[in-house]
Amino acid sequence: MRVLQVCAEIFPLLKTGGLADVAGALPPALRARGHEVRVLLPGFGAILAGLESTVVVCDLYPPAGLSWGAGRARLLFGRLPAADVDAYVIDAPGFYARPGGPYADAQQQAYGDNHLRFGLLGWVAAELAQGMDPYWSPAVLHAHDWHAGLAPVYLRAAQQARHQHLAGSVFTVHNLAYQGCFAAHHFPDLGLPAQFWGVEGVEFHGQLSFMKGGLYHADRLTTVSPTYAREIQGAEQGCGLDGLLRTRAADLSGILNGVDGAVWSPAVDALLPACYDRDDLSGKAVCKAALQQSLGLAVDPARPIVCIVSRLTEQKGLHLVLQALPGLVAQGWQFAMLGSGDAWMEAAFRDAAAAQPASIAVRLGYDEPFAHRLIAGSDAILVPSRFEPCGLTQLYGLAYGTLPIVRRVGGLADTVADTQLDTLDTTATGFVFDAFTADALQAAAARALALHRRPADWALVRDRAMRQSFDWDAAAAQYEALYHAVA
Ligand code: ADP
Ligand code: GLC
Repeated sequence: MRVLQVCAEIFPLLKTGGLADVAGALPPALRARGHEVRVLLPGFGAILAGLESTVVVCDLYPPAGLSWGAGRARLLFGRLPAADVDAYVIDAPGFYARPGGPYADAQQQAYGDNHLRFGLLGWVAAELAQGMDPYWSPAVLHAHDWHAGLAPVYLRAAQQARHQHLAGSVFTVHNLAYQGCFAAHHFPDLGLPAQFWGVEGVEFHGQLSFMKGGLYHADRLTTVSPTYAREIQGAEQGCGLDGLLRTRAADLSGILNGVDGAVWSPAVDALLPACYDRDDLSGKAVCKAALQQSLGLAVDPARPIVCIVSRLTEQKGLHLVLQALPGLVAQGWQFAMLGSGDAWMEAAFRDAAAAQPASIAVRLGYDEPFAHRLIAGSDAILVPSRFEPCGLTQLYGLAYGTLPIVRRVGGLADTVADTQLDTLDTTATGFVFDAFTADALQAAAARALALHRRPADWALVRDRAMRQSFDWDAAAAQYEALYHAVA
């Protein structure tokens, strides 16, 4: 089947979070199942730089409001070898060639014209379903997160105008908290029929919401874990959209993300000082010693390291970690973190590390290779999120024999099984806590430490963790079933 994945980032070319990992891994997994998959991406510098065998599909003439100022806008097609996928790329420098990030400038200020930048993405997706490329048109549009939320909306508008089914649509929520909301007066810029404004459309509490548009108009909705699919139908995690999600419950499902074994597997990971697998963990000890050394931590094989790799935002529960840090160190842990994000959090972690450099190490910034070395060299990985649609780092932890300590929420609840006396010999793969408090986090870390002091039991759980399989083929099979249903 011909499937167009519509998204704003893709690993390894452009990544701000797990969305890019998914966008990079899903197309090859679908292709392995016999599907013809292309992606549609905005022409950010890193994407254009990675595009090869490029041809111009056409110049773009979107609705008047979606204009990008001076300069060209055209649709390119080519291959992104780094991501191993064929791609349409919207070359509109007035929109996408900017020095900051994909969504915000270097000062973290969202671009004022994001509704246009990502409106164009959705519009082009729907045009591709109407024959914009005379040689290829998709049977299914699969749109990811608010950036692509208007793809199903423009598609619906086109189908209504032509009284014809053009393609099916699937919309995947990776994070309901980011909704792409804009002032109402921008609606006319999008060139959508007037009836698309309103409660039965893209209006959300008086604003224009790309997320709402996708949720309202896509044929099927998914999110990235079964538990999050349930949680977002309730007021606490629904971000105001739970009512709509409840009315669409029959069309909503949770499909767990996988782990890309070509990127995240300790047996073949060229970024590590030594590879290892569950039959021979000597390489993991090498990774640990190298990590302690490089971070200036006391080099001691007996001292367990708990790590974090994360965006530093409210979602991730890191203020609990700041509160618990003295307790974790007193328990005997070394703590090592890689992250970037909110300035106050960066400063707080930097201060904590400066106060106890032999036990606490903090690297600020975005560093893909170091993320691999950190997860490989640590004994445990901490993910205490307030909410977590899926979460990937706990999956990487499992694969690398780095036991996850997670809060029981979203995808974390679906992927980590707590260690108890009665689960030790059966299901245990990590440590799970419920309350969103520093005390609960610390208590879980204490249980992990107690297990670590019993090497045979630790090895048992670690071996089971490493045997878990979160492969993309399983996820791709579930998406495939949805595609068949909507095509
Ligand atoms: P989210 O998408 O909410 O940020 P996920 O756990 O799904 O959370 O995905 C995060 C991805 O980003 C993982 O691949 C993780 O390794 C990576 N990551 C997060 N922060 C950093 C960082 N500072 N440096 C390198 N990789 C990071
Ligand atoms: C989002 C979520 C994260 C998920 C990722 C990929 O960024 O916060 O939980 O793993 O998308 O689906």
